[in-house]
Amino acid sequence: MSLHRHTPLTIAALLATALAAGPASAQGSGKLRVGLMLPYSGTYTALATAIENGFRLYVSEQGDKLGGREIEYFKVDDESDPAKAVDNVNKLIKRDNVDVLVGTVHSGVAMAMAKVAKETGTLMIDPNAGADAVTGPMCGQNIFRSSFSNWQPGYAMGAVMAKRGHKNAVTITWKYAAGDESVNGFKEAFTKAGGKIVKDLTLPFPNVEFQALLTEIAALKPDAVYTFFAGGGAVKFVKDYAAAGLKDKIPLYGAGFLTDGTLEAQGAAAEGLMTTLHYADALNTPRDNAFRLAYAKTYKLQPDVYAMQGYDAAQMLGIGLAAVRGDVSKKAEFAAALRKARIDSPRGAFTLSASHNPVQDIYLRKVEGKENKLVEVASKALADPGRGCRMQ
Ligand code: PHB
Repeated sequence: MSLHRHTPLTIAALLATALAAGPASAQGSGKLRVGLMLPYSGTYTALATAIENGFRLYVSEQGDKLGGREIEYFKVDDESDPAKAVDNVNKLIKRDNVDVLVGTVHSGVAMAMAKVAKETGTLMIDPNAGADAVTGPMCGQNIFRSSFSNWQPGYAMGAVMAKRGHKNAVTITWKYAAGDESVNGFKEAFTKAGGKIVKDLTLPFPNVEFQALLTEIAALKPDAVYTFFAGGGAVKFVKDYAAAGLKDKIPLYGAGFLTDGTLEAQGAAAEGLMTTLHYADALNTPRDNAFRLAYAKTYKLQPDVYAMQGYDAAQMLGIGLAAVRGDVSKKAEFAAALRKARIDSPRGAFTLSASHNPVQDIYLRKVEGKENKLVEVASKALADPGRGCRMQ
């Protein structure tokens, strides 16, 4: 039977039967194509591995399926290089035809990804990068974050440091969106509480020549230092700070990335450091204990904040996909499911703000041996203000 023998009515009937049988398009059936865009090389390499491990752990706990669909992975090393970001994200969207983008770590790269995701309508879940704009001016119905905004840990630490009696502080970070925004969050809360900023010091990402800046800190003699560094750079900064003889003279604080996933390499130089983050070691909740045990069994490694964020990115994808029965083209329903979800994270359950950023407790932690031990909740259910977001 060839089509030209059918009347318009029988064609309509055939179409109706096909539709009733379920989605036949690549968007709703077959393997779900997941594009992992992460820094598999450079100072953030360990972060990429932890995120992918966490993501795969959640998927395997669900029987290797989300929303009824098996998962196929496509990977691109973004090198934490914003200049290559558009080409890299297009490899996943155009060449690999992915259904969802999962990425990335570096804020500058994430902003480029979010722009392309928005233009093409591709679903994107950001499993780390804190760029405020991703859930601010660049927010979108198809863009979600399982991690934090750069503002969040910084803001929480501003209040902590003021409460601990520090009257003035020097800030030091890499000169790019994550460093700038983390420091801005810190300054907002610290100055609101009466604190003064002595000086903001920066160096280009991912430079680790800290010596001249440490000499400057020694000369400025502030009450305390606030910092954002992560990955390999954080390992070196903490060691250099101690080696310069500053550790016992000028207390060092930071967003918790400073000491997360880095303690083995930092050793004694990190002992006693206090940081703020949406995760800690030994939270000792049944949910976190189960996650940590499963992660340690699977990878023979302890999980860190990045592993947890990767795990929750998969969990969020699963929640959205379940609501649309695997059909990622149903964007409004996908988003509606996540907006009302209570996500059962190892960090503690969280919800998403109107701009799709986690509303979450920020913990004060203190390094003891190889752990970031929970001291207290520094900021309960802290929501990023989502400045500039107009959700369409
Ligand atoms: C970022 O660029 O947003 C970033 C990178 C590494 C971190 C945290 C934030 O650990």
